[in-house]
Amino acid sequence: MLAAIALTTLLAAAPPSSPAAVPIAEAPAAWAPAVAKAQESGRSFQKALQARLGAALAQGGPPAAIEVCATDAPRIAAEAGKAAGVKLGRTSDRLRSGANAPPGWTRASLQAAAGRKGADVQPLAVDLGSNLGVLLPITVGSACLGCHGPAASLQPKVKEALAARYPADRAVGYAEGDFRGFLWVEVAK
Ligand code: HEC
Repeated sequence: MLAAIALTTLLAAAPPSSPAAVPIAEAPAAWAPAVAKAQESGRSFQKALQARLGAALAQGGPPAAIEVCATDAPRIAAEAGKAAGVKLGRTSDRLRSGANAPPGWTRASLQAAAGRKGADVQPLAVDLGSNLGVLLPITVGSACLGCHGPAASLQPKVKEALAARYPADRAVGYAEGDFRGFLWVEVAK
């Protein structure tokens, strides 16, 4: 008990490992154009990814869509980022793909949001010097459960496809409304 208190005090006193994040709603006015650009590029990435995922699901069901997702999600992120002159991606505290590992500046915010409801997590801005980091929360919806829902409820073929491609998958067991991760954007200030 005492040891636990001592450890908690120590951790609380430790310097933050990432720059401080502020809710977008409270960010300095000078950041507004960069924030708007980040939100806009985030929206176009989400739209393109959803369209691709929707088409793949309609065509071959979840097992085929897993293959599409694995190759196309990173490509779509790179394209959306390039078109807008920003860097962006998706990350999570419970990763499926190691390719989506969190950039250092997102880690403290991810830790703080882990296990919460998506609606309880605010969009955040992080001062990265000449760049602004923007974190937009991603919430689990019903359309996500076929691939991110409780393991027992996944189609056997989905389980197989996930196990083959992502042996260290931590992104199952979610319920609708859960915080799933962040869409992160790095944009020039
Ligand atoms: C057809 C199966 C499938 C569906 C449906 C699906 N995902 Fe995924 N998801 C994947 C796969 C495969 C990956 C890993 C490849 C990638 O996208 O980077 C992934 C990765 C992610 C990531 C990146 C972090 C990580 O763990 O690697 C997030 C965030 C995410 N999904 C959120 C969602 C949300 C939110 C929905 C619903 C709107 C959803 N997914 C629907 C299969 C799916």
